[in-house]
Amino acid sequence: MKNINSWLECVHCSKKYELDKIRYLCDCGGVLDVKRDLNALDGQELKKLWEKRWGLKKGIESSGVWRYRELMLDAPDDKIVTRQEGNTRLYPAGKAGEYAGLKNFYLKHEGENPTGSFKDRGMTCGTSAAMLFNANSVACASTGNTSASMASYAACCGLRSVIFIPSGKIAYGKLAQALAYGGITLQIEGNFDDAMRLVQEVCNEMKIYLLNSVNPFRIEGQKAIGFEILQQLDWEVPDWIILPGGNLGNNSALSKGMMELHELGIISKIPKIAVIQADGANPLYTMWKNKTPFEAVKDPDTIATAIKIGNPVSWEKSIRGIKWSKGIVEQVSEQEIMDAKAMTDRAGIGAEPASCCSVAGAKKLAEAGIIHPDEKVVGILTGNLLKDPDAVVGYHQDKLTDKGIRGTFANKPRLIKARLEDVKAVLG
Ligand code: F0G
Repeated sequence: MKNINSWLECVHCSKKYELDKIRYLCDCGGVLDVKRDLNALDGQELKKLWEKRWGLKKGIESSGVWRYRELMLDAPDDKIVTRQEGNTRLYPAGKAGEYAGLKNFYLKHEGENPTGSFKDRGMTCGTSAAMLFNANSVACASTGNTSASMASYAACCGLRSVIFIPSGKIAYGKLAQALAYGGITLQIEGNFDDAMRLVQEVCNEMKIYLLNSVNPFRIEGQKAIGFEILQQLDWEVPDWIILPGGNLGNNSALSKGMMELHELGIISKIPKIAVIQADGANPLYTMWKNKTPFEAVKDPDTIATAIKIGNPVSWEKSIRGIKWSKGIVEQVSEQEIMDAKAMTDRAGIGAEPASCCSVAGAKKLAEAGIIHPDEKVVGILTGNLLKDPDAVVGYHQDKLTDKGIRGTFANKPRLIKARLEDVKAVLG
């Protein structure tokens, strides 16, 4: 695991630990980074190597994560569990860009990963680490996407997967995936934060390998979203990268990756990172806005169930990265999320509700004059549209009014008789 010198280091107190023992948190309770001796690497050579690997048809390095393996988990090929994840498209945002009021808006569609969310990038590293540590079971708490991803990767390499989800509170598409891939699915009374607390206790007690983003190797894999965006833009750094914030692993990964590229001299400009939370699950936003210490939100609530999280584990890493990038935290309402989703979907691109915080946040920041309409902006769409069909159909049938959401851009299905005249009447 340590061809180039690497170690775990606490974000809070800088205490260091060896990489070859399983550890998720520092003794002080702080989250851990994987650190490596970047002086041992030549940034320009790395860039050339990564360019050479672009478009490979097969093999480990055809993955959009392992393409950058020098900055991932250092594992031998036979331990790597990969589904050629990543390699997702970067779309001009089209109508979603007009909606946001931005001329140079791109959407990085992480919903095009093998299990339909960005989680696959972290999971390929996480399950490979599980293989390195000779684990036979893995576990996670989840709002749905992590569990879908973990169950799939575990199935691929013969690991038993144990899933903790808040009962009745995850989108159906995600529950379906967990069951289909064979995860042992424990629906617990309580919310995601309760599930997160329980899974950590279970993993420590029962020697099951924990695959939430508190696992530092998960974060390593997720750095590749940022690397791939830059490579797709021919290494021209955008002004902003915008993404939703829930448990706060993804933006932590994004900033860590950018810090490494900057230190290696691969980039000289730093993209500003904007993290967008739902206003009903907004502990990071509150902390940022009021400049107050971190405080969990007790009963988080949002239609974007993926980010219905009140006590995110990675808040400290997240804040560090946002400050380093001179970025910002913003919040958006339920209506803003679903209207932005309708416009992202209508642009022909489509994504699940949480993802569309990126578009809603872009619009809000553009309207506030924080993002200039000419700036180059990349929004990350974290999950596939089909993950949460209930939210889509509810919006388009205008049946979300109990949640205070109107179907502003609803495209209602119309019931007609099976007759040509009726079709003509509708089509005009
Ligand atoms: N978008 C989607 C679609 C997600 O599934 C998640 C997190 C996020 C955004 C937020 O990312 O947690 O790194 O800040 N989903 C986790 C899960 C919590 O269990 O699937 P984050």
